[in-house]
Formats: sequence, C-alpha cells, structure tokens
Amino acid sequence: MQDLPGEVRLLVTLTGRESEPALRQLADHLHAELRTFTAGELADQPAPTPSAQVAHLKTTPSVAEAAVLATGAELLVPKHKTPNTTIAVGRLPAAATSGRAGYDVREREVVQRVIAERRDVRRGFLDVPIDGEALTRVLEAAHRAPSVGLSQPWDFLLIRDVTTRRKVHELASRQRDAFARSLPEQRRQKFDGLKIEAILDTPLNIAVTCDPGRGGRHVLGRHADPRTTWFSAAIAIQNLWLAARAEGIGVGWVSFFGPDEVAEVLGLPPHVELIGYLCVGYVDEFAPAPELVRSGWAERRPLSWAIHHDEWGRRDTSIVDDARHAAQNAVRAAGQRIHVIVGGDAEDLRQQESLVIDLGSTRPDHDFGVLWRPARTPEEAEEYGVEIARDLALQGAGHLQVRLATDEPNAKALAEGLMAGASASGLTHSCA
Ligand SMILES: Cc1cc2nc3c(=O)[nH]c(=O)nc-3n(C[C@H](O)[C@H](O)[C@H](O)COP(=O)(O)O)c2cc1C
Repeated sequence: MQDLPGEVRLLVTLTGRESEPALRQLADHLHAELRTFTAGELADQPAPTPSAQVAHLKTTPSVAEAAVLATGAELLVPKHKTPNTTIAVGRLPAAATSGRAGYDVREREVVQRVIAERRDVRRGFLDVPIDGEALTRVLEAAHRAPSVGLSQPWDFLLIRDVTTRRKVHELASRQRDAFARSLPEQRRQKFDGLKIEAILDTPLNIAVTCDPGRGGRHVLGRHADPRTTWFSAAIAIQNLWLAARAEGIGVGWVSFFGPDEVAEVLGLPPHVELIGYLCVGYVDEFAPAPELVRSGWAERRPLSWAIHHDEWGRRDTSIVDDARHAAQNAVRAAGQRIHVIVGGDAEDLRQQESLVIDLGSTRPDHDFGVLWRPARTPEEAEEYGVEIARDLALQGAGHLQVRLATDEPNAKALAEGLMAGASASGLTHSCA
C-alpha cells in the first residue's frame, strides 16, 4: 500500500466482511472509509477477470475488481492475489476525491454522532449544577451560530431562581391542560403519559430571545425576508443543543407557552421576543430515539420523502410507495380515528376530531385544523390525498373517516387519494 501513488481514502469489500479485524485495522491505519457492497451489487459490475470458483463461493463472480468498479472508480490494478488476500486497486473520479477541506472519516463520524445522539431530554436529570466552563463552551457554540447579516439577534437568559421557574412552570402546566382538552379521547390518554417539560427538574433554564431589529435598517439579507432574523436565533439553539450533548448535558425545549406569557415573567422588553425556553442539566444517558417515537406518539419520516429534485414533487420514490413505507412505520398503538372533511369549511371545525381539507384558492386563516391544499389538477389533488394519509399515519392515525363536502373534481380526486394512501399506509378507512 505504501507504494501507491496518492492517498487511500476508501477500502471496499463484500457486505459481512467489514468486521474482519485486519481490515478494520488497515482502515484505521490509513484513516480510510470502509464501505461494503452486497454480492448482488457486485455481481452487476463488469469485472474483467471473473471467476467461476468465486461465483460459487460468494454468489458473485468477482469481489475485488467488482468492489472497485462499484465505487465508480477506474480500475488501475486488476485482481492481484497475495497469500492472504485478493485485492484490486482503483482511482476515484475527481469529484469523489474533492472536498479536501473535509475532516477525516473518524472526525466526520463524531460530527454525525453528536447530531444523531442529540435528544430532547425531559427525564433523568441529575441534581448537579452545570460546570461553569462547560456552560461557557455551550454558550459559545450557540453564539457562533450563523445569523442574517451577522445581526446575532439572540440573547441568553440564564434562569436559576426557583421562584421564577415556578411561575414559568405554572404557565406550561396551563398550556398542557389546554392542549390535553383539545385532543380526542384516545390521543389524550397517550398524551397524559408524556412528559413535556423539566422546568423544575433541572438546575438551569435558558431562555433564548431574539431582537428582530438588531443591527438597524440595513442588515444584509434581511430586507426581503424578515423571518430570517428568527431563523438565526433558532439556529443558535441548535448549536447550543449539540454542544450540550457533547458535554453530557441534556436540553429540553419547552414551547407550551403563549408567545408573550414568558416574556412578562422574565421582564423582557417589548421589542425582545422569546424564541426557545430550554431546560438544561446533566444526565447519565441519552435515549437512542426521540421520546415521541419510543412512546408511540409519532414516527420519523424517511429522508427520501423530503428530497425533491429540481422541482417540487420530483422525488426518488413514488408517493404511493412512500405510503406503503409508512405502513411499516405507522404508530399503530395509537390508532386514532380521524374525521377528514374534504372541501369543508370553518363550520366543520367544531368537531374536535375533524380535519378540514380546504381546496380553495385563498389561504385560510391559520388553524391547524385546516389543511390548505389548493390543488391545480385532479392528479395533483390525488397525490395530496395520498400524502396527507401517509403523514397522518406517522402521527397516530388508525382510521380515516372521509367525508366529501363538495362534488368538485379536485375534491373527489383528493378523497380518492386519501383512501388509496390510507390503504397503502395500513390505515383503515371509510367514506361518507
Ligand atoms: C421548536 C421546538 C419546540 C419543542 N417543544 C417541545 C415541548 O414543548 N415539549 C416537549 O416535550 N418537547 C418539545 N420539543 C421536542 C420535540 O418533541 C423533539 O425535538 C422531537 O420529538 C424529536 O426528538 P429529539 O429532539 O429527541 O430528536 C420541541 C422541539 C422543537 C424543535
């Protein structure tokens, strides 16, 4: 390996062999990524020296050469046998070797790890004060966040005083009760078992605020979209959250407040807004998955659902396939019955279990009981229907009871999409 020109960035082998100690050692030694392909993937490669014996043993006629080709590399040294192993060597295309400013594989793994292992924490806090230096590192991370026009619109209020925290806790409890009252019975029972804040269980609360006017009139990049100022403060929270994870400090974001309620308790001036209220404390462990997933309240969406190419809706998977995927992930235990009124109006919202789908061309007043889907064609309406069912399956739906409030073609198509999506997502459905 020492005689090879350039740097070895990638070691590739057959799936299952990546745990071989010698291979792992070599990858560590070279700081190279270890990647695997299945026998099926390797069998598809046009390897120049296939072998019937290898085909018999590994169900692919080539491993070494095929593995090089499978990475998109150009084959430089074809199959070469040594007493211990068979190798082939390739050169990756320029695109794959660019990004030289990137970290090496182990450092990248740490970055990915802290992102994956960050959790919203509400339980298991230790009765230990936060170390001052650790807190400074965490706040420095927050303060290094990107911000529109470098306006840095955030401030951090560190709240330790119990009397203040009790007042904030009281506000959250009231909002918790209000939310519980708004839920259908089955969902409410599930919600009763969830913990939504740790205001009094943590040694420190941090209120992150935003001064939207900070920096004056000519803040670069804010003029066309003022929301960017609030985005900036939210990103600071994410930086804080990640840095805290690395310190073993749990953070729980509480948003069970009206926008101005906490401001009063904390004495915020009228021009300063609360962005996030965080409960912060050391914990012994971080759960492997979000609490809402572990408790069966909701499910994560696969990445592929969120990726569109060049224009909205051009995706790698069809929406019906997505819905089938949702069937595997659906939150079955909850099994909520949802009354979906297609083409309904505000009047229909009186029933708490109902979800009105508004296909009109004017954006309705903001209300989460109304889904605005102004479909341009019946085809688009049908897709929207499938998509709505697919996403409801991840939020605890078990049965969709669909009512068509108009016989407009787009509404009919959307209702059909809902039923198709419900079937594919493993939900039962009925139509009135
Ligand atoms: C803006 C925002 C507000 C949130 N508000 C609450 C909240 O009030 N109570 C709560 O228990 N979790 C709250 N969360 C946490 C989410 O439920 C949590 O991030 C999500 O379930 C994913 O879990 P994870 O953060 O552990 O990956 C909030 C998260 C965000 C980003």
